[in-house]
Amino acid sequence: MLSYHCTLLLAWCASSCNCIASRSTESGLTAPLDVHNSVRVPSPDVIAPHYSVLKSKVRKGRSSFAKRSGHVQSVINDPSGANWYTEVDLNGQKFEFMIDTGSADTWILKDGFVCTNGTATQPQSYCGSAPYFKGTLSGGQIKTENFNASYSSGEFLSGTVGYEKVTIAGITVAKQLIGLVDYAYWPAGAVGLLGLAYPGVERGVWNGSISSADGDGNPAHDRVPYSSIFHSMWSEGLVAPSFSLALPRGHPSSEDEGYIAFGSLPPVEVEGHFTPTPIVLTPHYSTTALSEYAINIDATYFSSHTNTTDTGGNTIIDSGTVTINARNEVADAYNKLFDPPAINPPDLGIYIIQCNATGPKVPFVVKIAGTEFKLPGESFVLSDVVLSENGVTGEYGDYCFSGIQETGVWNAEQTFINLGRPFLENVVAVFDVGAGEMRFAQRKY
Ligand SMILES: *[C@@H]1O[C@H](CO)[C@@H](O)[C@H](O)[C@H]1NC(C)=O
Ligand SMILES: *[C@@H]1O[C@H](CO)[C@@H](O)[C@H](O)[C@H]1NC(C)=O
Ligand SMILES: *[C@@H]1O[C@H](CO)[C@@H](O)[C@H](O)[C@H]1NC(C)=O
Ligand SMILES: *[C@@H]1O[C@H](CO)[C@@H](O)[C@H](O)[C@H]1NC(C)=O
Ligand SMILES: *[C@@H]1O[C@H](CO)[C@@H](O)[C@H](O)[C@H]1NC(C)=O
Repeated sequence: MLSYHCTLLLAWCASSCNCIASRSTESGLTAPLDVHNSVRVPSPDVIAPHYSVLKSKVRKGRSSFAKRSGHVQSVINDPSGANWYTEVDLNGQKFEFMIDTGSADTWILKDGFVCTNGTATQPQSYCGSAPYFKGTLSGGQIKTENFNASYSSGEFLSGTVGYEKVTIAGITVAKQLIGLVDYAYWPAGAVGLLGLAYPGVERGVWNGSISSADGDGNPAHDRVPYSSIFHSMWSEGLVAPSFSLALPRGHPSSEDEGYIAFGSLPPVEVEGHFTPTPIVLTPHYSTTALSEYAINIDATYFSSHTNTTDTGGNTIIDSGTVTINARNEVADAYNKLFDPPAINPPDLGIYIIQCNATGPKVPFVVKIAGTEFKLPGESFVLSDVVLSENGVTGEYGDYCFSGIQETGVWNAEQTFINLGRPFLENVVAVFDVGAGEMRFAQRKY
């Protein structure tokens, strides 16, 4: 039995609660959404703080995608369990795209693309499993632009850009700009990425046909702003400016249902009501336009370790990160509570655990706008994210990632708190772009 829980939302919705974004529509758009106002990122080398490539064990028994009414579509754990996938239809060719709320480009690996590990050409399967996109983009290539994107753990992709007919959850954008990748360092396993962040955060589309000239200082080789897929959906009036995620737990034994819902809530149960909080600027990218799903939080803590000074700052809601990156002293203390405790070898610089470790017995708490979201310790045991499958050789190869890391671990110059997998698998998250706010409720399992 599917049930919608939207205690607070009912107050906003006249007829049904499957209309979470109607508030946005009624109240008008408050967020600075005009793509032409988006401020470009400061330097061509700046890479997104939100994406981590973590390849892990192949899982069996994945569920098939199911469409539901109200623009709701299934989300599954990828074969490794480390990230979340949903189906994207490119003019009739269907693919499983990774959902990334931390970036804005949407791209697909093209048949015949070259895969590299950074130094040498690899089999294509190293980058993502076939099938890949066949043929040419139905809306035509933009010959005066090129695609060239890079992410925080060093991955990079390049190729061409053009327009394609893109369908997700029954919503079709007739002419969406996407990247068609022909060269990739992408040990992530996804053939495509669905970037759901604000258009202002996109980084992959450049003026000029020659990618080696991208960002060379010549204004004619600068980034080109464009409308990202979700922006296209709502600005073309196809759906209300809101989407929500109920993401299944990543543990290998998880059989949870997962959904992405556009203009509505996912059909899962939650505990209590939804807590709203404004989406705030990410000054690292722009001081004038929204870029990421960044919020201010009250605190992160756990029972014996309450640190009320651990407040505020840019916290990014990021489905592309498998960990929570918290303030160092909180992350350090919580990592001691695994059995056996996590270790942080100086040559690795990350917390790792034995893959059979038991999670902390006390839940980790993320407090947002006065509401405590309790994340069970087992959500931090990333037993499916094995180091040897992420390029770590030697004595630590058999270890797994800890789900809680020090802030900045994926990118030393940044101090974002990333709320990735351990947070998102325990909540229903509403990205209300129209209202300029996020809403969270604890998911009921
Ligand atoms: C890339 O692969 C080559 C062989 O295919 C190997 O020699 C090299 O060490 C690999 N590089 C990385 C960074 O893994
Ligand atoms: C992508 O852009 C960078 C500059 O940001 C440039 O150095 C690089 O050569 C480009 N990649 C390709 C494949 O041309
Ligand atoms: C791209 O470069 C051309 C010159 O080569 C210029 O006329 C055009 O305005 C540029 N477009 C953007 C979006 O910057
Ligand atoms: C609390 O946080 C502050 C700043 O982040 C840090 O300096 C301090 O050591 C922390 N206190 C405890 C008890 O961990
Ligand atoms: C857990 O894994 C380690 C190796 O990583 C092994 O030495 C240990 O015996 C295992 N413990 C249990 C209870 O299976």
